Amino acid sequence: MSLLEVEDLRTYFFTADGIVQAVDGVSFEVDSGESLGIVGESGAGKSVAVKSIMGLIRDPGRVVDGSIRFDGRELTDLSERELRREIRGNEISIIFQDAMSALNPVFTVGSQIEEVIVENTDRSPKEARTRAIELLDDVGIPDPEQRIDEYPHQYSGGMQQRAMIAMALACDPRLIIADEPTTALDVTIQAGILDLFDDIQEKYETSMVYVTHDLGVVREVCDRVGVMYLGNMVECAPYDELYRNPKHPYTQSLLNSVVTPDETLDEIDPIGGTMPSAVSPPSGCRFRTRCPAAFDDCSKATPPTYDVGEDDSHEVACLLYDETVSRAEPALHESDTDTDPAESGGTADD
Ligand SMILES: Nc1ncnc2c1ncn2[C@@H]1O[C@H](COP(=O)(O)OP(=O)(O)OP(=O)(O)O)[C@@H](O)[C@H]1O
Ligand SMILES: [Mg+2]
Repeated sequence: MSLLEVEDLRTYFFTADGIVQAVDGVSFEVDSGESLGIVGESGAGKSVAVKSIMGLIRDPGRVVDGSIRFDGRELTDLSERELRREIRGNEISIIFQDAMSALNPVFTVGSQIEEVIVENTDRSPKEARTRAIELLDDVGIPDPEQRIDEYPHQYSGGMQQRAMIAMALACDPRLIIADEPTTALDVTIQAGILDLFDDIQEKYETSMVYVTHDLGVVREVCDRVGVMYLGNMVECAPYDELYRNPKHPYTQSLLNSVVTPDETLDEIDPIGGTMPSAVSPPSGCRFRTRCPAAFDDCSKATPPTYDVGEDDSHEVACLLYDETVSRAEPALHESDTDTDPAESGGTADD
C-alpha cells in the first residue's frame, strides 16, 4: 500500500459560467519517502488536485468523485474538523508559492513555529523553542538563536520561504505538498531551496508532492513525475524514464518546448494552440485538439491508462498505445524520443 493513493479524483467548480471540470479523473500514488512531481501548463489543475488532497477546496468548488487514501484512511470522508485536527499541518503539510500568506507578520518567526510544535506534538513550550531553533538551522537560516526572535519582514524572500519550510516540518509530517514553492524567487535562491528540499527528504524521509510548471525543477527534486493536461493525468513515470522516453504527445511537446543550454529559441517547438476551457473540454482525449498524432477514435472516449516500458512504473493515457485500435498512420511531430510509438506499432509494453 502506498502512503497516498489518489484514485479517479474529480473536483469541479460550479460557477455562473458553467461547471469547471478542473480535475477530472486523476489517479496517482506516492510511496513512503518518495517524491512525486506534478507538471503541466497553467490551468492544468495541479493546484486544485493538491488542494483537494488537503480538503482545501472551497465554494463553489467540490470534490465530486473519487478517493483519496492517506495511509489507508479515506480523506474524502473526513469532516473539516477532523481534517484540521488530524491531517492538515500534522500528517500532511502544504507549502505555497507565497511565503507571506503562511507567515503572520505580527508574530515572530519563532513563536509561529513553536505554536505549531506545541499544538501538534507532545513537546513543552521550552522544548518547542529548542526544536524551532534546530529546524531553522536545518533549513539554513544563519544564527538561528538570534533570528528566531525576528519578524517575517526582517527576513529576505528566500529566508521567508525557508522559514515556511521549517514551519511545514515542525509537526513531523509524513507528506509535504509543495505548490510552486520557488516560483517567486530568483534563480540562485531557487537553487538553494531546491537543495534544501533534497536534504530534507534525505534527513526526514518525508514523502513529497511537488507541483511546478518547470521540468528542470522536477529533475532536481523528484523521483517520479506525473504530467497533467486540462484536468487529466496523461502520463506518469520515473523522471529519467520520462525524460528519455516520453510517450504521450503532450509530454513530448512539453519537453520540446524546454530550452536547453545548447539550443537557441528558434529550435524550440512550442505547443501549438491554447488549452481549451475546462468548462467545455474536448470529448475523448482532451489533448486531441492540439495533438499532432490525433486520429478519429481520440474523440470517442477518455483514453484508458496503458502500462508502457519495462516495469509497471511508466503509464500513459493515450490510444497510440492500444494495440487493438486501428488508425491511419499518425503524423507524430519530431521529438528526441528513443522510440517512436507510431513505428513500434504502439504496443502497450514496448
Ligand atoms: N475558485 C475557483 N473557481 C472557479 N474555477 C477555478 C477556481 N480555482 C481554480 N479554478 C479553475 O480550475 C482549473 C485548474 O486550476 P489550477 O489552479 O489547479 O491550475 P494550475 O495547474 O495550478 O495552474 P498554474 O500553473 O497557473 O498554477 C482552471 O481552469 C481554473 O480556472
Ligand atoms: Mg497552481
